[in-house]
Amino acid sequence: MGDARLLKRAEPVSEFDAPQLHALLADMFDTMRSMNGAGLAAPQIGVGLRLVIFGVEKNSRYPDAEEVPMTVLINPVITPLTTEMEEGWEGCLSVPGMRGLVPRHAHIRYQGRDQYGTQIDRSVSGFHARVVQHETDHLDGILYPMRIRDMAKFGFTEQLFPGEDLRDE
Ligand code: NI
Repeated sequence: MGDARLLKRAEPVSEFDAPQLHALLADMFDTMRSMNGAGLAAPQIGVGLRLVIFGVEKNSRYPDAEEVPMTVLINPVITPLTTEMEEGWEGCLSVPGMRGLVPRHAHIRYQGRDQYGTQIDRSVSGFHARVVQHETDHLDGILYPMRIRDMAKFGFTEQLFPGEDLRDE
C-alpha cells in the first residue's frame, strides 16, 4: 500500500495463450502460494494488466475455509445480481498484517476469459463473490481500506484475531 502502481487503472489483456502471459501467471501463482493467499491481482506484483487469480482448496490448516475453484480471470466484468450487501473481514497481501470489515455485493455474476481465451461466466455468492470483488478492485486502483465504512473495524490481524491463521487476498 502506497505504491503508485496499486492506484492505477490496469489495461485490458489483448493476447491470450502467449508465452509472456503464461510466465506472468506462473509468477503470480508462485507468489500467491508462497504467501498463502486466496487471491492475487497482477498490479500487486507491479504489472498493470486486467488479470487476477484466486482459489481456495481444501487445506487442514483452514478447515472452515469455503472452497473456491482455482481460477484465472482476465478482463473481468462484474454484475451484481441483487442489491444485497454483506459485511465481511478482508485482508490483502498488499496491506500485510491488517484486517478490515468491508461491504460487498452478496451475489454477483462475473464474466471474463481464462489464459487460453476461453469464456468464463459464473454466478456466485458469499466468500467466492467477495474474493472476486476484492481482486477486481485491484484492477481499478481500489484497495479494501478505501471501502471500509467504520474505521473502528480496521486494525492489526493479531489484535483483531489473536492466534488465528488467516488468509489474505
Ligand atoms: Ni488484495
